[in-house]
Amino acid sequence: MTSHDPSGLETRLALAEAVAREAGAVALDYFSRRETLVIETKRDPQDVVSIADREVEMLIRARFAEAYPDDGVLGEEYGLEPGRSGFTWVIDPIDGTSPFVNGMPNWCVSIALLHDGVPVVGVISAPCHDELYAAALGRGARLNGKPLSLDASRTIRNAVTGIGANNHVTPASVGKMVEKLLEAGGNFVRNGSGALMLAYVAAGRLVGYYEPYMHAWDCLAGYCLVKEAGGWYLPFPVEGERLTKGAAVLAAAPSAIEDLRKVAGI
Ligand code: IPD
Ligand code: CA
Ligand code: CA
Repeated sequence: MTSHDPSGLETRLALAEAVAREAGAVALDYFSRRETLVIETKRDPQDVVSIADREVEMLIRARFAEAYPDDGVLGEEYGLEPGRSGFTWVIDPIDGTSPFVNGMPNWCVSIALLHDGVPVVGVISAPCHDELYAAALGRGARLNGKPLSLDASRTIRNAVTGIGANNHVTPASVGKMVEKLLEAGGNFVRNGSGALMLAYVAAGRLVGYYEPYMHAWDCLAGYCLVKEAGGWYLPFPVEGERLTKGAAVLAAAPSAIEDLRKVAGI
C-alpha cells in the first residue's frame, strides 16, 4: 500500500498478474509433457485432476502468503484458509482440466480477489493462447494490456453464448437450457473452461455465459473482468460457508442480460 494506491488494489492486481503469468508457465510446461502425468478422477471419470493442478495451486498460494500473509486464500485443490485482512484470494490453478489432460488448449489459470463480498481483482492467464486478462474494480479490464469494452449492439441472436454443465445438474436440465437458448434464437459453444469462457464474454467474443452450478474459483475472476468491460453478472453467494459451495453462474453483455436470465430462469 502506497500514497498512490491507498486501497492497495493496484499493488495486489500487479502481483496477481505476475503470479498468473508464472503459474501459467508452470502449467504450460506440464501441458507440454502431459503424457507423463498420472490422471486421477474426483467425482466421476469426467472430473479429472493431476499433479499439475496441485503444484500450480501450491505455487500461487506460496506467492500470496509471502506477500500478504494476512489475506485469506481459497483454492479448488487445497480449500479455504481464512485471513484477517478482509481480502481473500480465490484460485482455480487450472480451469479446464479436461481439455488440459486431453491435449486441447482451452484451459487457464484463474485468480480472483474478494473484498466485502465483491470480486475486486480478476486475472486469467491462458498460456496456450498467450493471453492475459486482467481487471480491478473501477479500473477497467484489459487483454494483454489492451482495454476491453463491450458492444451494446450484440444480443443472443446475433452473437454466440457460452454454456457449461457438470454432474451436479441433471442431463434433463442441461437439455432444457440448450433448448431454451436455441428457441430464443441463440447458439452456443462449450470449450471446457468456464473461467476462460467468462473471459471471452469480457473480450466480446461471447455475448454471455451460463452454467447452472459452478464454484467461486470458477467464476469470480471472470466476473470482475466482465463487470469492468461493461457487462453484468449474477452475484455469487460468498457469505460464510456459501463461499465454498456451488451456485448458478451467469454473465452477459448489456443487450443479452434479459434474454439469458429467461434462458436460465433467474
Ligand atoms: C470445470 C470447467 C468446466 C465447467 C465445470 C468446471 P475444472 O472446472 O470450468 O468448463 O463446466 O463446471 O468444474 O474442473 O476444469 O477446474
Ligand atoms: Ca474450474
Ligand atoms: Ca480446476
